[in-house]
Amino acid sequence: MPEAPILGPVNMVADLSVASDFEKKHTPHIEAATVDGVGIVSVTVGWGVPHPNQPDHFIGWIELFAGEASIARFDLSPVVTAPTVSVAVDLEPGTVVRAVEHCNLHGLWAAELTL
Ligand SMILES: [Fe+2]
Repeated sequence: MPEAPILGPVNMVADLSVASDFEKKHTPHIEAATVDGVGIVSVTVGWGVPHPNQPDHFIGWIELFAGEASIARFDLSPVVTAPTVSVAVDLEPGTVVRAVEHCNLHGLWAAELTL
């Protein structure tokens, strides 16, 4: 099966309360916290529904944006890594953080969180 396109379209679920399991398992779940005075943004792919992590179906990468700027990117290997990443950040409150992930079969999926 060919790889899903990496240039779009980007899927973004408007309301997770009415989303399907297919949509939930592809939507990045973004969380922000402060640990010992350091801002931490964490992203897990799958909103209550885990995404498969098999050699033929997996999350290949997760990229994090602050506004329009890319601030971190994680390339992942199937099976031996899980689609869960964290990064220390220094961002102003009110910054919109967007996570974009790529499923090798189902393409690009994004979510946003305002810090
Ligand atoms: Fe998928």
